[in-house]
Amino acid sequence: MSSSAQIRIRDLHKSFGENEVLRGIDLEIGEGEVVCVIGPSGSGKSTLLRCVNLLEEPGRGQVFVGGTEVTDPDVDIDAVRRRIGMVFQQFNLFPHLTVTENLTLPQRRVLGRDKAASARTAAENLARVGLSEKADAYPSALSGGQQQRVAIARALAMGPQVMLFDEPTSALDPELVGDVLAVMRMLADEGMTMMVVTHEMTFAREVADRVVFMDGGVVVEQGTPEQVIGAPRHERTRHFLSRLLDPAMAEVEEGSSDQVGKAG
Ligand SMILES: Nc1ncnc2c1ncn2[C@@H]1O[C@H](COP(=O)(O)OP(=O)(O)OP(=O)(O)O)[C@@H](O)[C@H]1O
Ligand SMILES: [Mg+2]
Repeated sequence: MSSSAQIRIRDLHKSFGENEVLRGIDLEIGEGEVVCVIGPSGSGKSTLLRCVNLLEEPGRGQVFVGGTEVTDPDVDIDAVRRRIGMVFQQFNLFPHLTVTENLTLPQRRVLGRDKAASARTAAENLARVGLSEKADAYPSALSGGQQQRVAIARALAMGPQVMLFDEPTSALDPELVGDVLAVMRMLADEGMTMMVVTHEMTFAREVADRVVFMDGGVVVEQGTPEQVIGAPRHERTRHFLSRLLDPAMAEVEEGSSDQVGKAG
């Protein structure tokens, strides 16, 4: 896979002060591959994504995106970021701009596209996420799920080689989650290389080529969804999954057992 790896992470470390949050991450994501990253709160999932597009400066180790070492001190950070689309839990749309303007502005500012070309690309990508009819609306007139689909379209309009998603549906009301996941599924089907931090296990099972379980700043295990979600080999993974499936049960457990979840 390494010849066609779009994202390659080697021995990545990251500390905030004394707190070592990433403790040697090795991960490769092939072209067109969809990798879901799961793990408990604080395990370093967001930090890992943020190191890939240099929103955080990695401490030690290397990150390559499409063959370019982004951790090279001489790298053109803007050029790297242009190739990486990122979607966050919060959509971060400009409230004073229409949906179309939210999509055209970064194309014009960052890519230097002219008005007509950026408008055309905006329209194409709004159609992809099923929101053509909202082109002239303001974000406040949209549901959270629609705003998130606009945020995805905004990232796609930049023509990224890879897309990073950090819990894109966790701020949404449950009934709005499905439309966003459907758009992500479409992107996966189209062959987009995707790294997705999510708690949506159904999505991970059905869409991911590979699931990576992180805990305490390391990759504890990875494999197909059937392996990692269906038949986890590590106790920490089992514990995490059982909590997701039955949070109430996990709280009871928390009080009575100390040995699980604290290892490592
Ligand atoms: N900018 C920062 N400064 C200091 N500490 C940070 C910073 N960002 C993250 N951390 C710490 O790094 C650790 C990992 O955080 P991170 O956000 O990567 O976890 P996560 O797996 O994404 O968790 P969650 O599921 O809650 O989003 C946490 O202990 C967090 O407090
Ligand atoms: Mg996070």
